[in-house]
Amino acid sequence: MRKKIVAGNWKMNTLLKDGMELAKAVEQQLGEKETDVLVIIAPPYTHLSRISDLINQVQLAAQNCAAASSGAYTGEVSPEMLLSTGTNYVIIGHSERRTYYAEDNYLLNQKVKLALSSGLKPIFCCGEVLEEREAGKLFDVVTEQLQVGLEGLSKEDMQNVVIAYEPVWAIGTGVVATPEQAQEMHHFIRGLLGRMFDDTVAEQTTILYGGSCKPSNAKELFANPDVDGGLIGGASLKAEDFMAIVHSF
Ligand code: PGA
Repeated sequence: MRKKIVAGNWKMNTLLKDGMELAKAVEQQLGEKETDVLVIIAPPYTHLSRISDLINQVQLAAQNCAAASSGAYTGEVSPEMLLSTGTNYVIIGHSERRTYYAEDNYLLNQKVKLALSSGLKPIFCCGEVLEEREAGKLFDVVTEQLQVGLEGLSKEDMQNVVIAYEPVWAIGTGVVATPEQAQEMHHFIRGLLGRMFDDTVAEQTTILYGGSCKPSNAKELFANPDVDGGLIGGASLKAEDFMAIVHSF
């Protein structure tokens, strides 16, 4: 059975105090109702170590990491540093990193490899922009993102990798992919993982949907056989909304 995951990507939101309150609320609400969903939150770097002390069931992710393990890289944070704060997951290749910070598939591949060798579990993001979808290139784009981004990984490595399909046109826009669009791409990604690795990897890899997922549409999205959860931006900033999404399964 694949792990079901709902992860909250807080992006560059919350000051430390508010972030700590939000994390506490998520932890508390998770304890109130039984679920088999793994719940992850990804606060800004500055909050990780404090929030790590406040959570127990909830897992912690960073939103990015360096491609090098230490040294003269001003402003960067290495996977090992993240681990030392109690962080276990890291979002790699979010479309905002790709777009605003020019992170390409080759750099992302270095980050994925370093994260894995350090013991951090990547949540690797992929997804097409609207023009690519309209031009019918969506499957080619996602194929390249995954083939280059996951290049050189072993089947064993893949046990620690989560994929997030986030169509860029749906991120923060309020335009959500239809359940059919999400299922179509998730099914395609699973097939691709089968060709890149093997059927077991394809069957066992958790594939999350991201992009304007909220309590009102999560149930329909998660009802699809290949959608194993969500990567949630805006709606993860309110504990009630985020937990309503968790309980949408
Ligand atoms: P959104 O963001 O839920 O606000 O659309 C999702 C994401 O960027 O991970």
